[in-house]
Amino acid sequence: MADSFQLNLVQRPRRLRRTASLRDMVRETILRPADFIAPLFVVEGREAPDEIKSMPGVFRLSITDLVKECRALQKLGVPAVALFPKLDPKLKDEEGTLALDEDALVLRAVRAVKKAVPELTILTDVALDPYTSHGHDGVLTPAQDDVENDRTVGILAKMAVLQAKAGVDLVAPSDMMDGRVGAIRQALDAAGYTGTGIMAYSAKFASAYYGPFRDAVGSSQAAGTRLLSKATYQLDPANRREAISEVLLDEAEGADIVMVKPAGMYLDIIRDVREVTRKPVAAYQISGEYAQIQAAARLGWLDLARCRHESLLAIKRAGADMILTYFAKDMAAELRK
Ligand code: PBG
Repeated sequence: MADSFQLNLVQRPRRLRRTASLRDMVRETILRPADFIAPLFVVEGREAPDEIKSMPGVFRLSITDLVKECRALQKLGVPAVALFPKLDPKLKDEEGTLALDEDALVLRAVRAVKKAVPELTILTDVALDPYTSHGHDGVLTPAQDDVENDRTVGILAKMAVLQAKAGVDLVAPSDMMDGRVGAIRQALDAAGYTGTGIMAYSAKFASAYYGPFRDAVGSSQAAGTRLLSKATYQLDPANRREAISEVLLDEAEGADIVMVKPAGMYLDIIRDVREVTRKPVAAYQISGEYAQIQAAARLGWLDLARCRHESLLAIKRAGADMILTYFAKDMAAELRK
């Protein structure tokens, strides 16, 4: 005979976990397709979609395929896409000259998507890394030992105006130069684009987990020699207070939305930022976060659908109002089932 034993408990939290419907009633955080922004990679030409090795399920797309993908995302309820161009290495130079080309790949992509799927919100990255031969987000100092802040900001402001002119809804400076949000806001306003918003990569850390993205846009190698370190402009992963001060600066300079990046390993920062700003907070679940889950799932070590959901739920629970994620399409499809 089993021992019988009964605690004299007033509170039994398990009561509300007993059935699926009770669990539904008390769920505090709920993901929806409108929480996601899909980052998409675009290439020149008409080639078939080209899968990125370190990001299974993510493809570099021709403009034609990009438009199709955007239409599919919009139908699934994903409200926004963030476009990243992958250039032929032959077109890159030290100064990232093609970033200011009026007919740049990403600008043609923006125009095509806007025309075909006008309801979709489009973000574009403001940074020079897809365009520079050394892979840095800006231009180098005369001694070539660092990224030159102010000269870079001057270029980025022009780049943002070209993007606004092409029709983007939000420009997204991801470069971490000092003063760039203010300079971009001023340049947009001076050019008449007062309605174009800024999603600032405010607390962007110098993460080792950007590796797969750098494979995707071909920016991983500094001048083909040493591995790229962005530690003189991106935040030290050890620093929490400094992340907050970057967010406050960007807000003061005119950011409409502030971002924390990476997301999953920086939930404390997301929570801190949520508490200090009244602006919407975005979080970027980056390429390495995606790759980790995909790799473990491929090995049969983790369940892809459940880990995907849990990783995004945690980011939202921490305080993110919107999440850039390579899982956007699959998650939206799953949530609509
Ligand atoms: C660079 C940029 C990076 C990402 C977005 N914009 C990488 C970097 O700073 O080197 C990373 C995104 C990802 O890893 O998914 N401006």
